[in-house]
Amino acid sequence: MADARIASQTPQVIRREDYRAPDWLVPEIALDFDLDPTATRVRAVLKVERNGTHDRALVLNGDGLAAEAVLVDGVEAQGWTMDGPDLVIPLTGTAHEIETVVTIAPERNTQLQGLYASSGMLCTQCEAEGFRRITFFPDRPDVLSRYKVKMAGDKARFPVLLANGDPIAQGDAGDGRQWAEWHDPFPKPSYLFALVAGDLVANKGQFTTMSGRSVDLGIWVREADLPKTDHALHALKLSMAWDESVYGREYDLDVFNIVAVDDFNFGAMENKGLNVFNSRYILADPDTATDYDYDAIAAVVAHEYFHNWSGNRVTCRDWFQLSLKEGFTVFRDQSFSGDQGSKAVKRIEDVRGLRASQFPEDSGPLAHPVRPDEYIEISNFYTATIYNKGAEVIRMMSTILGPQKFRAATDLYFDKFDGTAATCEDFVRCMEEAGGVDLTQFRRWYSQAGTPRVSANLTQEGGRARLKLAQSVPPTPGQPVKEPMVLPLKVKLFGGITGRPMCDEQLVLLKDAAQEIVFENLSETPVLSINRGFSAPVIVETNRTAKDLAFLSAHDDDPFARYEAMQQLMLDTLVAAVTSGKGQHDAVIEAVRNTLADSALDKAFVGEAVLLPSDSFIGDQMGVVDPDAIFAAREALRAELGKALEGEWRAAYDGAQANRFEYSPAAKGARRLKNVALGYIAASGADDAAALAFGQFEAADNMTDRQGALSTLVNGTSDRREAALSAFYQRYQGNALVLDKWFQTQALSAREDTARAVEALASHPDFTLANPNRARALIGAFSVNQRAFHDISGRGYRFVADQLIALDRLNPQTAAKLVPPLGRWKRFDAGRAAKMRAELERIVATPGLSKDMFEQASKSLD
Ligand code: PHE
Ligand code: ZN
Repeated sequence: MADARIASQTPQVIRREDYRAPDWLVPEIALDFDLDPTATRVRAVLKVERNGTHDRALVLNGDGLAAEAVLVDGVEAQGWTMDGPDLVIPLTGTAHEIETVVTIAPERNTQLQGLYASSGMLCTQCEAEGFRRITFFPDRPDVLSRYKVKMAGDKARFPVLLANGDPIAQGDAGDGRQWAEWHDPFPKPSYLFALVAGDLVANKGQFTTMSGRSVDLGIWVREADLPKTDHALHALKLSMAWDESVYGREYDLDVFNIVAVDDFNFGAMENKGLNVFNSRYILADPDTATDYDYDAIAAVVAHEYFHNWSGNRVTCRDWFQLSLKEGFTVFRDQSFSGDQGSKAVKRIEDVRGLRASQFPEDSGPLAHPVRPDEYIEISNFYTATIYNKGAEVIRMMSTILGPQKFRAATDLYFDKFDGTAATCEDFVRCMEEAGGVDLTQFRRWYSQAGTPRVSANLTQEGGRARLKLAQSVPPTPGQPVKEPMVLPLKVKLFGGITGRPMCDEQLVLLKDAAQEIVFENLSETPVLSINRGFSAPVIVETNRTAKDLAFLSAHDDDPFARYEAMQQLMLDTLVAAVTSGKGQHDAVIEAVRNTLADSALDKAFVGEAVLLPSDSFIGDQMGVVDPDAIFAAREALRAELGKALEGEWRAAYDGAQANRFEYSPAAKGARRLKNVALGYIAASGADDAAALAFGQFEAADNMTDRQGALSTLVNGTSDRREAALSAFYQRYQGNALVLDKWFQTQALSAREDTARAVEALASHPDFTLANPNRARALIGAFSVNQRAFHDISGRGYRFVADQLIALDRLNPQTAAKLVPPLGRWKRFDAGRAAKMRAELERIVATPGLSKDMFEQASKSLD
């Protein structure tokens, strides 16, 4: 444990420009595990080869390991030393066999990196640098090895033994123990190693690949969870077929296994042939999982499966290239999800996510490019920028190339770099080569941080209109001056009277700081539709009036653009209300009324379109965020929408009542709209709102409706609130994933007493920091509840800092991920900012702080 900690004063900064090819390669490794929760012995035999001509020693990374034996070519090694946590072995020849033995204690591993215990099973998590907590190894992604894994353990405790690749043999080891051996024929970096031992059962399936090979699929869970695995298995089969038809990529092993574990730092992990998942992204049935959960499960199953090509067959040269696999794979999973239902609604959800998580990151102290230049702890760079902005960068290239050339470019990339560790630059070169385009300037998307701003002004003189475009990229830490970016903007004009399109959609590539486009022969006043489909991940400011926006929200032929127009109208209205203290709500009410009345629209879309922008997104538009004024303005608009359209909301609510649960795009859309309508009915102050919500809560045959009703009640003051909370708790006691929802719903409450309530919940017997899902459900959710977290007393800040300091002792990676909300102090008034800073300073001054937390908290102070 001590090795993961550093003195706060001496963080080592790793720089991209310092990259050097590995001194030693390891073409083969054989691992032998003697599994035991308190003392697992790991014997590793490495075939090492000197890479190039040099006389440098072999350095094997370790983290908290002590070598019990070191052998070179079968003989006890002489002259090996420890360099901090690493093992250094001087070698004379060009190729040797190295053997080491260590003992590790999975049960005491609370960091959940390396080999650890979770609900009685043993499992591994190695990305990014966890393998070095298992055995001594050059733990970097450009060292690719063939793995042979043998493991032995207690038969009753660990009846199932899994690893990467194909099962080779198994047998009895005597003394109530058994062993199993797995070989992975594909060379892979150490971060993709995995092993699982536990009392598990599988939902088994089969998939025949495009070339006719049969693959055995298994979703491994505790026996009681088996009925909740059909959705994940189905999503896996859909993903395998999708990657064949859309990217021409076929699966390459005879087995593909997924294991669900309860304690997991991230969502899931793409280990070769043995994906390990946070159980929340596997387990679903109508009674316990919402539609959102079902969708997320399919998306994460797809994401990890797609990594088999974008990540595993072609991996990353170094961790600065992380977006090479993550941005591309997010883009692939987003496309997959769009193909399963409504593309427009999926795009709306993804853009909302980008604005909620990536835009704030890009405008704050932790802003970094999609391909970072330096880091202290790589775990801190599994960010929305690497993942989601990275996906937008790939999407822009696919837009610029068009579908055929983009496919040719990905084919080229996969073929050329198969079996190697590649860079973002390699990917862009394939786009250039197959696309016949020059992406020199476009590469700035990889190097410049910050969200570009575009101003778009349309003016008309007679039959001619001029669109004046200008762009700028704000300064970010370490990057005071920015160069213009390449911004692919999809643009279209609509007749302001007839609503008819006045031109085909154009793809404008804005490359200069300013640019002008002229439209001729216009027969009526045009209205501008721009950044359609969110073709560039930028902030667009236009000279469109409330009337223009309301018009587009009803007439644009791109559903995403309709949604955007509505959002912009709502945002303008709310920002004006916050700054002036009074709201002009009529245009919003009319636009929402029109959307609700348009029977041609699908319900899922309507449910999204009529939602007001979140408190934090409104805050992001302001120079100084006033959480209370924002909350008040938003509630006032909600109440007015609720009242003015009460009949419409009730009609939408009744019209969306499905009588039996079904997981289909239409049924999901109906539930979405129904729960949004319920929220507005409650916001209207209607006397029967709590009764309506409680009735829904009790009658629901699915979690979407039950949790939707619970959220509405939890925001209010009715005495049915407590009744619903305790009924929910009683019903799901013992179901960890649903209890997470119970904590999270309360942490997200719009009530004034939420900060106090959350403090009390932290002492609830079911609360624990040891489980990352539970910690995130309470602390993570609370800290994005703008009004509650920023309670003027500062108690929210103090509470979160206390929890993070405690969590850091157990699990630095999960703790560090929760720092950013405190780092947004610059955006708040002086009083709040001082309190937030004081908590960050307290964190940084904590003795024995992890380097994960040190990096996040100290950078947040700048
Ligand atoms: N590579 C994993 C994913 O995207 C994320 C992850 C990172 C999981 C680090 C665990 C640890 O899909
Ligand atoms: Zn990923």
